[in-house]
Amino acid sequence: MERELSELRKVDRFRALPPVTARTGKYLELDGRRLLNLSSNDYLGIGDDSELLDSYLDECRSKGYSMTSSSSRLLTGNHPLYTQLENELSRLYGRQAALVFNSGYHANIGILPALSGRHDLILSDKLNHASIIDGMRLAEAQSQRYRHRDYGHLEELLAAAEGRYRQVFIVTESVFSMDGDLADLEKLVALKKRHHAVLLVDEAHGAGVFGKTGLGLCEVSGLQKEIDIVIGTFGKSFASTGAYAVMDSLFRDYLVNTVRPFIFTTALPPAVLGWSLLTLRGQVPMASRREHLQQIASRLRSELVACGFDVPGESHIVPVITRTDERAVSLAQRLRESGFLCLPVRPPTVPQNTARVRISLRSILEWEDLAPLPDLFLGRAGR
Ligand SMILES: Cc1ncc(COP(=O)(O)O)c(C=O)c1O
Repeated sequence: MERELSELRKVDRFRALPPVTARTGKYLELDGRRLLNLSSNDYLGIGDDSELLDSYLDECRSKGYSMTSSSSRLLTGNHPLYTQLENELSRLYGRQAALVFNSGYHANIGILPALSGRHDLILSDKLNHASIIDGMRLAEAQSQRYRHRDYGHLEELLAAAEGRYRQVFIVTESVFSMDGDLADLEKLVALKKRHHAVLLVDEAHGAGVFGKTGLGLCEVSGLQKEIDIVIGTFGKSFASTGAYAVMDSLFRDYLVNTVRPFIFTTALPPAVLGWSLLTLRGQVPMASRREHLQQIASRLRSELVACGFDVPGESHIVPVITRTDERAVSLAQRLRESGFLCLPVRPPTVPQNTARVRISLRSILEWEDLAPLPDLFLGRAGR
């Protein structure tokens, strides 16, 4: 272990838990210093929404939400708030059913292994999140990765798989967490129909941010009923914890009976479910926050590109590609010294030679907060 850890230190890949001492609103306190927080997934700023927090505290008092569920859902942990939350999700998405999980990680390591068997094939975008990769590792099915957002490549793999498998599954993120670019859901739905595949879309970074009512990228193209399973998380835009999958009732019944990380774990406490229900409903009318977020993101992206930086994507996740680990670390350090917290992301989280500084924007930020960034990236004093 010591040898391995010292190797990690040598190549700048040793990770340690940051000593965060406070986190409110736009700022975060690290090592006693106040920094603008550009590393949060609370994209709509709901975590600090005093109106929602006040109504939650009122509900806690009047309804006496417990802090424990005391058991798994299939035993005695299935509080009525689960039913309310799942009914609300199916109603919003216009789907037959929904199922709530303890986290997105639980959902992703559970669903694919439950649905697929050794006569099946999983086709996954090369840049899918680690939780999806771990789900594929746990599954008995064979798996192949198609080049990132290369649907021609996906179609080749689908054609080659024709007649060779019991069922083919396609899995993708909607908004890619490290690149901030978007999957083409229309193409994916067309492909899944043509090849009779099952399509799973992880909206972890799309829910809350995209769509008129915040259902995610699937809502933008009106495809939420065409995707077999849409997965979303409560830990990001919805400022809570847990995750959900919306789907047909048959899928739900099957998952309740087969997903091991759903069956063999203690249910979420009512205190969390009550807050998730409130934030899920509360984010629906937040269209102006979503618009503002996209506006500041596209302005920052175009200013950084004008300064000569490689900034892929088209969302509120703005990665500045540095290629080398050292450059990512030193740029992030320079930004931190100037009062901005955005973290360097290095392999193995991203592919080799694509290290980056990842800026994650939120609707509570104003352009004035971000204006110094291009100069700081260039190594000039902020404007
Ligand atoms: C695309 C994606 N899926 C799933 C997850 C896991 O979600 P959770 O944090 O709820 O476990 C994450 C988050 O970190 C993610 O980025």
